[in-house]
Formats: sequence, structure tokens, C-alpha cells
Amino acid sequence: MTAAERSGATSVRGAVLETVGQPVVITDLELIEPRAGEVRVQMLASGVCHSDLHVRDGEWDRPTPIVMGHEGAGIVEGVGPGVASPSIGQLVALSWLIPCGVCRSCRRGHVWACPDSPSYRHALLDGTAPYTRDTPHDRAGEPVRAYCAISTMAEAAVVPAAAAIPLPEGTDPAVAALIGCCVTTGVGAVLKTAGVPAGASVAVIGLGGVGLSCVMGAVVAGASRIVAIDRVDAKLEAARAVGATDTILAGDHAAATIEALRDLTDGGPDFVFEAIGRVDTAELAIGALPLGGTAVLVGMTPLGARATFEVYPFVDGSRRILGSNYGFAEPAIDFPRYAAWTLDGRLPVERLIDRRIGLDDVEDAFAAMRRGQYTRQVIDFAR
Ligand SMILES: NC(=O)c1ccc[n+]([C@@H]2O[C@H](COP(=O)([O-])OP(=O)(O)OC[C@H]3O[C@@H](n4cnc5c(N)ncnc54)[C@H](O)[C@@H]3O)[C@@H](O)[C@H]2O)c1
Ligand SMILES: [Zn+2]
Ligand SMILES: [Zn+2]
Repeated sequence: MTAAERSGATSVRGAVLETVGQPVVITDLELIEPRAGEVRVQMLASGVCHSDLHVRDGEWDRPTPIVMGHEGAGIVEGVGPGVASPSIGQLVALSWLIPCGVCRSCRRGHVWACPDSPSYRHALLDGTAPYTRDTPHDRAGEPVRAYCAISTMAEAAVVPAAAAIPLPEGTDPAVAALIGCCVTTGVGAVLKTAGVPAGASVAVIGLGGVGLSCVMGAVVAGASRIVAIDRVDAKLEAARAVGATDTILAGDHAAATIEALRDLTDGGPDFVFEAIGRVDTAELAIGALPLGGTAVLVGMTPLGARATFEVYPFVDGSRRILGSNYGFAEPAIDFPRYAAWTLDGRLPVERLIDRRIGLDDVEDAFAAMRRGQYTRQVIDFAR
């Protein structure tokens, strides 16, 4: 009998980042029972998002040891005292940002911009870590944090109830997982952050799960032209499959990409979405704007990165740059809405999933992502 079983807690396997820059290790962990305001979720699927790779590679400052993953869905299998929703047996998608409720952003209703979100403490609401190392381990009993308080790369998680959003019956769990990050981020960037009007021209640079979700959002918005740009040929095909009207294979010369983009969009797209997180492509997005055009920065660079642009024509041409965190998500409203759109065919999210893996394959998935391979890899816990 393990220590977990003796204490009433349970033992689960999770992908633990011990030290940034080092491979994640699949580790046996003790998971606490849900307490007041918490629920236990049996994970069914977790997407592998580039934000996980930023953390794994040490590009962002995050505490360790930590159970990775922030794009997941599962079934509620336990609820603590006082939890009104969700209930046991429901399919939930997990939100990686729950608002603090009291900061300036939250008071304005801009919950997606909450800088004090308890999710960013990578622990439960009282600050405790949901996991401890299981025996036998030389550091048995040591607390292990949960990335964004949801740690979707584990067989089960105990999360704040507010982070577990019930989805309509019939939603595919892998699709539900993607609604937890890339779909909400990309579709929301187009519909909510930018408010792209019908008939506008749109370009999307970078066609992973986030960029392809921008493409799908542009289709829903009724964009007249949707130009998809990537340096990997297969991504252009994937973009066409979800509604891109034109594609550009990006080479090393930004000027050539901008010229091709201007040719396709009557002098430049009304909206350009950067969905990679590179300084040079952020500058490309700004540089491609026509008069009155808007660049929406969705990709996230390593901390400290700076971009430059020429100020005079930017001001003279009334151009705009918008930052978009989590697609301006209000998860309890947006997740079920996006799920309904996957069920009626408006968001063909299932087409993004081109590799299903096991928990043991996380490092292999990171390596593939660095190569630009696959549009979205999903850990299938039922596998
Ligand atoms: N704003 C947010 O709230 C938010 C949420 C989730 C993810 N993100 C960020 O969005 C970005 C994209 O995430 P993802 O999971 O879709 O990543 P991904 O790695 O799956 O996709 C990135 C794509 O960019 C392409 N690419 C890379 N370099 C390129 C270049 N120089 N020119 C053209 N194409 C290039 C790759 O081939 C790949 O298709 C990441 O930076 C991630 O951290 C932001
Ligand atoms: Zn993500
Ligand atoms: Zn807040």
C-alpha cells in the first residue's frame, strides 16, 4: 500500500518539470482529496501547447517542481464541500486563468487581463500544492505544484471549482481540451480582442493550434480573405482545411512575405495575427499593415524580448497594435459557446488534432513541436 492510499489521497502519474531546461519526468504523485471549493477531475485529454514548451525550455520564469499542462479536459469524479458547479460525472474543460476578482482589471470586467490570478501561483486557492511526491522517492513528501492550478499533464488533478467549466454533452474530450487553451486564445483573439468585422481581410502568421484557431475565428467572423503564413508546408494545407483562402510559405526574407501578403490583400490585410511568439514575426505583422490596419500579438516571446517599429508611418496611418491574452476569455461563457460551435460544425477543431500520444511521450511531443511538426498533439489518457 502506498502512502497515498494510506492517507486517503490517491496516487497518480504526472509529467513533472523538476528543473527548467531539463526533460520532464513521468513521476508517481500523491493527489489530495478535494476540499471546500475544489473538484477532482479525471483527465481524459491534454493538448501540448507551445506555452508548455516555453516553460520547459526556461523561457519564462516558473516555480519547480511543477506538474505541467494547461490545456485539458476530463470528468469530474469528486467535489469538495460547498461546490455548486460542476457536479460529479460532468465533462469539464479547464481554464488556466481564474480571476482574483479584486484587481483593477477584474473590477473593470477584464478578467482575462487579471495580473493577480491565483492560477499564476500554480497552487490551490489557499496556496497549497495539490501534489506531493509518492514513495518510494528520495524526496517523498515534497510538495509539487500544478501549472496554472490545473496541471493537465497528470492522470487526475484537484483544481479550484471555478476553473472547471462544464461543456455540452457530446463534446469530444480532445476537442474540449483544446477549448481550454488554443481554441479560446485564437478564436477569441479574432472575435473578441480584434472584433474583426465581416468582409475584412485577415492574415495569420504561425499555424499551430493557436494560429489555426485564429483562422477558424476569421471564418466565423466572415472575413473575405484569410491568408495563412508558416515556414512549414504541411501547415499551409492544414490552414486550408479549416478555411484559409490563401497561403504563403515564409522564407528567411520578411520583405518577400510582406510583398506576397500585399499582393493578396489589396495593399495589406486589415488585421494581422502573430501566433508564434517571435520578435521578427511581430515586426513583420506590424510592417505589413495597411493604413488603419491592426496587428494583434497573440504569440508569446521569451521574457524580456523587445520589438521595434517605425513610429511616424504608424501614427500617420492610424495603425494599431493589440495584445491578446487568452482571447479575452470569460471561460464560463466562452467555453460552452465554442463547444457548441464545434458540435454544429462552425469550428472544425477536430481537424487540428493530428497526433494522439501517451503521457510518456511528452518530451517527444516537445521535440516535434520545436521542429514545427504536427498542428496539435494531444495526450489521450484513455490510450
Ligand atoms: N496569448 C495567449 O494567451 C496565448 C495562449 C496560448 C499560447 N500562446 C502562444 O502562442 C504561440 C503559438 O502557440 P502554438 O501552441 O500554436 O505553437 P506551435 O509551435 O504549435 O505553432 C507555431 C507555428 O509557427 C510556425 N513558425 C515558427 N517560426 C516561424 C517563422 N519564423 N515564420 C513562420 N512560421 C513560423 C511553426 O512552424 C508552427 O506551425 C506560442 O508563443 C504560445 O506561447 C499565447
Ligand atoms: Zn496554451
Ligand atoms: Zn484580478
